[in-house]
Amino acid sequence: MPALKRLDQTLSNLGYCSRREVRYWLKDKRIKIAEQLATNPAQKVDPASVSVDGESLDHPGDILVMLNKPLGYVCSHDTREGQRIYDLLPKRWQARNPQVVSVGRLDKDTTGLILITDQSALVQQLTSPKHHVDKVYLVTVERPLEPALVEQFAQGVALISETEVCLPATLNIIDSHTAKVTLNEGKYHQVRRMFAACGNHVVSLHREQFGQYTLADLPVGEWRDLR
Ligand code: URA
Repeated sequence: MPALKRLDQTLSNLGYCSRREVRYWLKDKRIKIAEQLATNPAQKVDPASVSVDGESLDHPGDILVMLNKPLGYVCSHDTREGQRIYDLLPKRWQARNPQVVSVGRLDKDTTGLILITDQSALVQQLTSPKHHVDKVYLVTVERPLEPALVEQFAQGVALISETEVCLPATLNIIDSHTAKVTLNEGKYHQVRRMFAACGNHVVSLHREQFGQYTLADLPVGEWRDLR
């Protein structure tokens, strides 16, 4: 169990308010610890025992959720880049420390499963090719898929203007213009660049699976807790 933190630090790290504001909230009798009115901002607390305005704290422990990313949303935190995946999560999470981040990124034009967490070690573990975490994409392409592409993907596609080839990937052709691709690395625009290197063009890209997680019936734009 991690070391207990001060009440004011706990509330500020979970995005509730600043440490200074906690003092006003205490004066206003808004905070309880184990059902008792709290008075001391320095008191060390188990976040699971704290309530504000009669409600338990939202996600007092680690965050790990999956989101079904809609088309047109970016995985950046920068509001100048357009609608962000973080805008689809509870607003308070944007003020959490450690910061809530995506596990790798999907392009603005890619839909589907994106994992979101505040655990940097988990991001490292799930994105490193060393850990062989499979990511499965459903791809629609412009030109008919040649059966020879299956072997090309299995050998490792050489991306245009890159010296290293991609790790072996699995291509399952579903019909003339649709396939499933399984990768366990995550280079920038990788699926689009792999098809471009093979003389084709990705028309739509949707991630169905990330490691053990699948979207199942999660509606577009919604998230589900994985903890
Ligand atoms: N490969 C891409 O080209 N784009 C993504 O968003 C994910 C994988």
